[in-house]
Amino acid sequence: MVPEGLLRRMEPAWLADRWRVRIHCASRCLWVIEDQGVVAGYASIGDADHPDLEPGFAGEVFELYVHPEQQRCGLGRALLSSALDTMRGLGRLWGVLEVLQDNHQARRFYEAFGMQTDKIVRRRPSGLWCSIGGRRYSHSHGSVRVVRYEIPLQPALRGRIPDLGG
Ligand SMILES: CC(C)(COP(=O)(O)OP(=O)(O)OC[C@H]1O[C@@H](n2cnc3c(N)ncnc32)[C@H](O)[C@@H]1OP(=O)(O)O)[C@@H](O)C(=O)NCCC(=O)NCCS
Repeated sequence: MVPEGLLRRMEPAWLADRWRVRIHCASRCLWVIEDQGVVAGYASIGDADHPDLEPGFAGEVFELYVHPEQQRCGLGRALLSSALDTMRGLGRLWGVLEVLQDNHQARRFYEAFGMQTDKIVRRRPSGLWCSIGGRRYSHSHGSVRVVRYEIPLQPALRGRIPDLGG
């Protein structure tokens, strides 16, 4: 599902640098599950930044990954719950995320969790970036199709049809 050219550019030095930036990024929060010192899964969250969402209205899960050997053990659910609890604690009203349209495994997981999709297919540029010595470098690799999933974070909003399009 990820463009071949992009996978080939995922060199360790670039990835390590991206991680350094992300770990120290004040506006993001990273949840990591370790199993005997080895990373079994992680989730990263922050404020949703989309033109159709009011700033401060929604938190977004940017990444959620569980090691293939540890999948279907409840780790994904634990990470997503922690991520959404953090957003709730920060006063966000909705939790949102985007997933590749063809990522059926992840879509089933989000649906089992109780998230709903607005069914709009959006195109996003796909690429890699890193910043070395204060400079930002990026590689662009076309675009991918994603769908958004969302869930209300405050009890009063449950059962209400969201109007995220305005
Ligand atoms: C999607 C992902 C994070 C789910 O994590 P996980 O730890 O495997 O999921 P859990 O064990 O917590 O699953 C919770 C429930 O979700 C549903 N679910 C999870 N994976 C599923 C699958 N492949 N097919 C159908 N339902 C699934 C099930 O209802 C499951 O409960 P059950 O195991 O009791 O039946 C994991 O598969 C993953 O890392 N995938 C690759 C990366 C990815 O696609 N990330 C999302 C990018 S947006």
